[in-house]
Amino acid sequence: MSKKALIELKDIHLSFGDRKILNGVSLKVYPGEIAAILGPSGAGKSTIIKIIAGLLEPDSGEVIVRSDKIGFAFQYSALFSAYTVKENIELVLEQTTNLPYKEINERVKNSLKMVNLSHVQDLYPNQISGGMQKRVGIARALAIDPKVMLYDEPSAGLDPIVAHKLEEDLTRINSEKGLASVLITHELPTIKNLATKVLMLFEGEFVYKGTTNDFFYNCAEPFSVQFRNRRLAGPISV
Ligand SMILES: Nc1ncnc2c1ncn2[C@@H]1O[C@H](COP(=O)(O)OP(=O)(O)OP(=O)(O)O)[C@@H](O)[C@H]1O
Ligand SMILES: [Mg+2]
Repeated sequence: MSKKALIELKDIHLSFGDRKILNGVSLKVYPGEIAAILGPSGAGKSTIIKIIAGLLEPDSGEVIVRSDKIGFAFQYSALFSAYTVKENIELVLEQTTNLPYKEINERVKNSLKMVNLSHVQDLYPNQISGGMQKRVGIARALAIDPKVMLYDEPSAGLDPIVAHKLEEDLTRINSEKGLASVLITHELPTIKNLATKVLMLFEGEFVYKGTTNDFFYNCAEPFSVQFRNRRLAGPISV
């Protein structure tokens, strides 16, 4: 691939106290790619995207993000309850850009259109459903026009049809804009629809890295096989 990776982690180590969480994690995400990080609860998936976002500093290793802006779609939307949907997005644009109001207005409109929520722009977060709140959070992250997007469980709690539509829209946006994205999800359909490659995190290391196609249809790596088939028996004990 001739283009440079927009996200690069090189040999990342991180402990919390005497608990080693990441033990030599490396990752590259190129423009147009969506890398899904899978792994058991508590494995360190959110920790990895917090490191990419600059919210956490690793003990050692190198973090390279070739984008001045990073879109972070949080698991629980994190909308401001006292502001309308439109104002939530405006606020972030006012704080992170010097754009004139007309341009901000345009961006708000476009980002809500991307997630099919133009009709709720004047409602408050508590007046829209949980799934809509989640999509507003995604629209807000996309509105800043980042080259790097981080999604923590974007489809969890959405009904399957809305989730599918969202996955289609995000796939389109990712390839049109050439974004490099990292996706954390436990949802197998979301991985299938949205991810271009899969990384399986276990005991601080990626025990598998491959294309989404390989993950679903070829690979015999035991962690991936257990996860993909939702098996109780396997190297990951519950
Ligand atoms: N700031 C912190 N201080 C101490 N321990 C932490 C901190 N943040 C995370 N941890 C621990 O690091 C481990 C990994 O946490 P992380 O949130 O990255 O897991 P995860 O893979 O995202 O899990 P889940 O699928 O449940 O969201 C957990 O054991 C967690 O308790
Ligand atoms: Mg997490």
